[in-house]
Amino acid sequence: MKPETKRDSTEVAALEERYQVATYKKMPIVAERGEGVWLFAAGGQKYLDLYGGHAVAGTGHSHPHVVAALHEQASKLLFYSNLVYSDVRARAAEKLVSIAPASLTKAFFCNSGTEANENAMRIARLATGRENIITFSGGFHGRTADAISATFLGRYREIGKPNVPGHLQAEFGDIESVRRLADESVAAIMLEPIQSMAGVRMAEPRFYSELREICDKLGIVLIYDEVQTGVGRTGEWFFAGCRSGDGVVPDVITLAKALGSGIPVGACLVSDSLAAHLKENDLGTTFGGGMMAMAAVSSTIEAIEQEGMLSNVCDVEAHLRQRLREVPGVVSVKGLGFLLGLEFQDKASAIHSALLERHIITGTSSDPKVLRLLPPLCLKTDEVDLFISELAEICKVA
Ligand SMILES: Cc1ncc(COP(=O)(O)O)c(C=O)c1O
Repeated sequence: MKPETKRDSTEVAALEERYQVATYKKMPIVAERGEGVWLFAAGGQKYLDLYGGHAVAGTGHSHPHVVAALHEQASKLLFYSNLVYSDVRARAAEKLVSIAPASLTKAFFCNSGTEANENAMRIARLATGRENIITFSGGFHGRTADAISATFLGRYREIGKPNVPGHLQAEFGDIESVRRLADESVAAIMLEPIQSMAGVRMAEPRFYSELREICDKLGIVLIYDEVQTGVGRTGEWFFAGCRSGDGVVPDVITLAKALGSGIPVGACLVSDSLAAHLKENDLGTTFGGGMMAMAAVSSTIEAIEQEGMLSNVCDVEAHLRQRLREVPGVVSVKGLGFLLGLEFQDKASAIHSALLERHIITGTSSDPKVLRLLPPLCLKTDEVDLFISELAEICKVA
């Protein structure tokens, strides 16, 4: 085969602009290679990635253990569906359940976050025989029909019209707003336990336990959308069960993003009692549980375990919070672990651009004053120090 001629960065960008539907606002980077918290661009520049490739690179970019597992699996079998048994799938399901809260004993695999949420809502409706779903102002759950109808953030529901019926909106953090809606027509209450895109919003611990009480009393399924908070991001495997959430464990956890270190995979973790309501053909997807995705899931969890990334998140979060006190422009730091929102006095978009010019990638949010950090779980203190010195200089000039 004739080797392809190498295009320069301008040509690559022009080609994408020409042939890809223009639905994304892109950064001026042509990504070529990644290693841990670093992203290398085609022109040779190196970026500190505090956005983790959209919260996906939990283990860091191209973690060698994950890459080796994928190489090995690719040489054996790329794919076969759930119509056959598979050792790699069995291991991934066992591994994922082994790190889940004890009451969540079964996994359903799919391909993305929106799909995990669609399936979670379907599980709740099938198990309860009810139709209504309560979700929250500021929550984001994906872009397929049911998930976008459950999304009360910004104009997403508008984009997704006509919406799926049966979606009710409560106010995040306001338990009385939930009480006003919750009755025996409600199948599920679903929430991002930390609302990421809304600007990294958390509720008081009591809010989560009161939600649990309402669900228990009325037979409602509690779903945590942990597409962002799951797989170690908060310094624990899941927000479910953690102290900031009053130890509450939901009936379903949905996962995606960091679960496969970059290989598309989503999952619902489900309790035994809920799983008992599901029968053959109630849920399904061709690619869910495919061999490459399953190798990615097991090796991702192993990499996090082997390198002690959960305790690294806690240690480095403490260092980051401490150092951020030195930066005068930062009004508050929201969130938990490596899902952090830095609130500035003024627009965060200017800080985001200035950091990018200094080769540091961060994320904006729907709160114009909040800049999001979602770095790989292997971020170290010297990389934090680099970020702080650049941020402090930017804030000094601003
Ligand atoms: C909390 C949350 N849920 C669901 C989704 C949808 O995931 P996906 O883009 O994989 O469909 C996202 C994506 O950003 C998310 O942040």
